[in-house]
Amino acid sequence: MADKIEAYVEANKERFIEELKELMRIPSVSAQREHDSDTQACAEWLVAHFQALGLEARLVDKGGKPIVRAQAKGKSSRRVVIYGHYDVQPEDPADQWKTPPFEPTIRDGILYGRGSTDDKGQSFAHIKAVESLLKTEGELPCEVIFLLEGEEECGGEALSRYVREAREELKPDAVIISDSTMYDENTPAITYGLRGILTSEFTVKGPDQDVHSGAYGGAIANPAMVLAQILSACVDPDGKILVPHFYDDVAPLEKWESESIEKLGFDDQAFVGELNVPHPHGEAGHCTLERIWTRPTFEINGIFGGYTAGGSKTIVPASATAKISIRLVPHQDPERIRDLIVEHLRSVCPDTVRLEIADFATSPPVLFDVNDPTFQAAQEALRRGFGSDPVFIRCGGSIPVVSTFVEQLGCPVILMGLGLDSDAPHGPNEHFSLESFIRGTKASVHLLRTI
Ligand code: BES
Ligand code: MN
Ligand code: MN
Repeated sequence: MADKIEAYVEANKERFIEELKELMRIPSVSAQREHDSDTQACAEWLVAHFQALGLEARLVDKGGKPIVRAQAKGKSSRRVVIYGHYDVQPEDPADQWKTPPFEPTIRDGILYGRGSTDDKGQSFAHIKAVESLLKTEGELPCEVIFLLEGEEECGGEALSRYVREAREELKPDAVIISDSTMYDENTPAITYGLRGILTSEFTVKGPDQDVHSGAYGGAIANPAMVLAQILSACVDPDGKILVPHFYDDVAPLEKWESESIEKLGFDDQAFVGELNVPHPHGEAGHCTLERIWTRPTFEINGIFGGYTAGGSKTIVPASATAKISIRLVPHQDPERIRDLIVEHLRSVCPDTVRLEIADFATSPPVLFDVNDPTFQAAQEALRRGFGSDPVFIRCGGSIPVVSTFVEQLGCPVILMGLGLDSDAPHGPNEHFSLESFIRGTKASVHLLRTI
């Protein structure tokens, strides 16, 4: 029986890929207002696609971008929610793409384009799994509700609101998500932990306008210098965060976990080689995987102020700004950490400037029990879909709505990532392995049959 469905996937994979390319041509960039109509069009494309497959599908409006909800009953009374996001990151930096971001292109079995891995390609695998089950068996083995949101990449809260309101009606036995990574291209993985995140913007303001650095430099504080000093007071050169009490609630790594990380035998040389950086770098006393998966970070995502065009211009800038993200790990509480950071910033900022701190967007970390029986079903499904043994990993990224699923639905959440960190999500030339797409589709078929 399962072979018949796998055969359907094989026989139809070229069409699946063409359909995914069509979905990727819609530039559903959630962070940019000028793409609002594209985001809407993308949601409508998905609803029509689901309806053509025979699902009951509609848009749900909870403020912000529409949620795509699609549902099909199953043979058993078990029910799964499949989550994904149809919004994508901006194409930036536009001039570094080898082929245009919204003209999906295949080179050597790899699909290039914005959203290929994050998250159109990964979530489309589940849509095609549902199609394959419906077309070969006429009915799904369990009930499926897709919830695809359009504002994962921009910190929207529509889906969280919906899940809180509809928790009784949803009540799934499991949530399935493909929006993370495999361990490597031949090793599928179940992600049992995600970091949380805080994002904000700090602006240091000095004189009302840029002023001559010969006339004023040295006699008033320079906002760009002060910003650099404030940021240096937040993190030491190794990446250790200097905010008092920041690490109070960070759980030490359990023995099984350090052993499991050790056993994965992560290759630091390959890791830096791919990125063309000289050495790994990070908090002392932790290996690379521990740093990415289990330790908090304080990052500057962008920093600007004063004169940034060609040549020199001798000014003291009126202001300087840094865009910041702070990754959190279990059991750090985002609100408490935000308060600690604000207090620290105020205490280290001199009174010669004004410091403006933008509102923080927050999302808590999540950690699952790997002994959950549903994880065994997922392991077996991945083994069958990929033809190799899956491993348990954590991921350093964040998917804000997952903590709402945990809190509101109280069921296991299976993160079966199909991407790779090296797929360049959020960067130029984002890509996704078509082999992973097809194997992931098969794994999803197996999971829906056994869950
Ligand atoms: N799919 C990623 C999150 C991710 C990446 C999980 C790699 C595991 C491994 C998601 O789309 C994402 O980019 N999330 C943002 C959230 C932020 C915008 C609030 C992130 O992690 O930066
Ligand atoms: Mn994503
Ligand atoms: Mn993303």
